[in-house]
Amino acid sequence: MADGYQAPKGTYDLLPPDSPLALMVRTAMIAAARSGGYEYIETPVFEDTGLFARGVGESTDVVTKEMYTFDDRGGRSVTLRPEGTAPAVRSVIEHGLARGQLPVKLYYSGPFFRYERPQAGRYRHFWQVGAEAVGTEDPAVDAELIVLAADAYRTLGLTRVRLLLNSLGCRECRPAYRAALQDYLRGVELDPETRRRVEENPLRVLDDKRPHIQALLADAPLVTDHLCAACKAFHEEVRRLLTDTGVEFTDDPRLVRGLDYYTRTLFEFVHTGLGAQSAIGGGGRYDGLSELIGGPSLPGVGWALGVDRTVLAVRAENIAAPEHARVAVFAVPLGEDARRTAFLLITRLRRAGVSADLAYGQRGLKGAMKAADRSGAHYALIIGERDLATGVAQLKDLTTGDQEPVELDRLVATVKEKLQ
Ligand code: HAM
Repeated sequence: MADGYQAPKGTYDLLPPDSPLALMVRTAMIAAARSGGYEYIETPVFEDTGLFARGVGESTDVVTKEMYTFDDRGGRSVTLRPEGTAPAVRSVIEHGLARGQLPVKLYYSGPFFRYERPQAGRYRHFWQVGAEAVGTEDPAVDAELIVLAADAYRTLGLTRVRLLLNSLGCRECRPAYRAALQDYLRGVELDPETRRRVEENPLRVLDDKRPHIQALLADAPLVTDHLCAACKAFHEEVRRLLTDTGVEFTDDPRLVRGLDYYTRTLFEFVHTGLGAQSAIGGGGRYDGLSELIGGPSLPGVGWALGVDRTVLAVRAENIAAPEHARVAVFAVPLGEDARRTAFLLITRLRRAGVSADLAYGQRGLKGAMKAADRSGAHYALIIGERDLATGVAQLKDLTTGDQEPVELDRLVATVKEKLQ
């Protein structure tokens, strides 16, 4: 296909046999959120551009370089969501969800879009499962979310996950730290682009991965040395609850993340078996986000776990998806009348909760039996024209090769008994 189409750059098709792994990962993450009482929400895949510009931050890479933004036919600027926190909080505000019991606990699962340079583990279309707790300023909620995420990775069987933890302070103590960091950075030799960053968003410089910048940062002031008493106590409580529940973490006073809404608790899960894109999930507290996007004061905390990267981590640790036969019964009809009967029988099986398939297309016995084997089914149901008259067909156990007659009238009950 010289001029055929391919999936766009930075995207990929999720196909069997890989797709069961992705479903397994999403399911484990969703189960963790649900176990903590988080409820499912869906928000649109695109939003007003301003929501992200204001919520995520005008000077972040996500907003300045990575958004899929376009004018719709009505002249409105819309953006494919690069993340889910600003939309979730927008939705809480719009629907007054915080008027009820607090915190509002929500989770979501879906695709997100960032125009990033594609590489292993970094895509332009990727999948997150996220959880947000809005309306409470209780360190136990921060700890709860971190424990739930750690448990999701653990139930998947991952052992090479590290948790990095930091606090970014609040609007009381952050300005003094920001100024101290700025002072320090103004005193070191930096390229013009980084100097501009020092003035705009100095904390982002801490995230610069270039070795010579990291070396320059060796003596930079640490945020944890500048926390106010309230932030310090809050952070200590999160650390204590994590320790009590046996969730191991590493204090990383240089941890910053690419979104501007964070206050206080900040965390990231990294997997040691991946390359440069090792962050498999992350999150933190965002006490000022609601006000930033025009809502009331509503503190919040949450995370988003990256499904694509977690699948890579699962592969790196050689964890397999549980084996599932595609169907339990595969019908092999021999002749036209037998096909109609087989069609009716697989429909009955499916309606009774037994997955079933049929050898479609005109195939001989040999080809149809091969299809049955390939399907991974437990049983092949072989129906010949003669069987129709007697009302009895052959049920072949595809694992043992044993074959026995089965009354068509009793097929559903017989198969259900056998599958138990
Ligand atoms: P984030 O760190 O930008 O946080 O994304 C969370 C996770 O999504 C990352 O750790 C990574 O696994 C995955 N991810 C991000 N970008 C890509 C990409 N281009 N390709 C593949 N995977 C990617 C947030 O999005 C925040 N909304 C998390 C949050 C929720 N904070 C508070 N509540």
